Amino acid sequence: MPDFKYPSQQELFSRAMKSQIQFVEVPKIHARNRARLARMLRHPVFAWAGVRAPIAQHTLVEHQALMRHARVASTIVEIGVAEGASAAGLREAMPGDGALYLIDPFHLSRIPSLNFLKRAARRVVNSAGSARTIWIESFSQDAIAGWKLPIDFLLIDGDHREQAVERDWVDWSRFIAEDGIAAFHDARLFPGGWPTADYGPLRFINRAFREPPNYPAWAIVEEVDSLVFVSRRKRA
Ligand SMILES: C[S@@+](CC[C@H](N)C(=O)[O-])C[C@H]1O[C@@H](n2cnc3c(N)ncnc32)[C@H](O)[C@@H]1O
Repeated sequence: MPDFKYPSQQELFSRAMKSQIQFVEVPKIHARNRARLARMLRHPVFAWAGVRAPIAQHTLVEHQALMRHARVASTIVEIGVAEGASAAGLREAMPGDGALYLIDPFHLSRIPSLNFLKRAARRVVNSAGSARTIWIESFSQDAIAGWKLPIDFLLIDGDHREQAVERDWVDWSRFIAEDGIAAFHDARLFPGGWPTADYGPLRFINRAFREPPNYPAWAIVEEVDSLVFVSRRKRA
């Protein structure tokens, strides 16, 4: 019987490498776990518990632009608060004696009695700035009933369907002060950005303020990533 020697593991490995076969790659168990953990940590309970920072749904330059406009706004209304990242930026930047109205029904919680999205938002916003903060836990179309105050800065980031964005605009824009500003989020295309041409806010902005505008008394004054800012045209 010929003298047979089993090849070593090392040798088998180098033979396989020489034959240049592409093998199925099985993801490493720990990489899969890491992804699962990252997904799990997105739950607002972890922002509420202070385990992670709040997750913003906007870019850093958008955050800075919101803060820049908030600096001179005594009364701010934000429609659509989520985890409170943009609201925290507004509160941090606005005058300490101002008022910040935050409108969100927080209706998407799987366990409404616990509602960690709402709890996380409160924690995040309370930790930034000192302006009086009024939480309006309802849909913007209901919150408008009985509204009387002039608004210096209005941020529309709630229901993103085109008709809903228009409804928010029609309902709330009549309260914007003479020199006030409104901002729409997810409202324009930008390089590498997430909005697509069929986004409701984007379609509304194009119809409302670009050529030919449906609301000619208003003009776009600034655009930053997906944010579009509008104010009243000055009369000549
Ligand atoms: C895109 S998120 C807001 C993100 C937040 N502005 C930020 O940048 O961190 C949209 C939020 O709008 C809320 N929302 C949806 N429809 C609304 C409505 N009709 N009125 C007020 N809020 C609404 C949702 O509950 C959700 O929390």
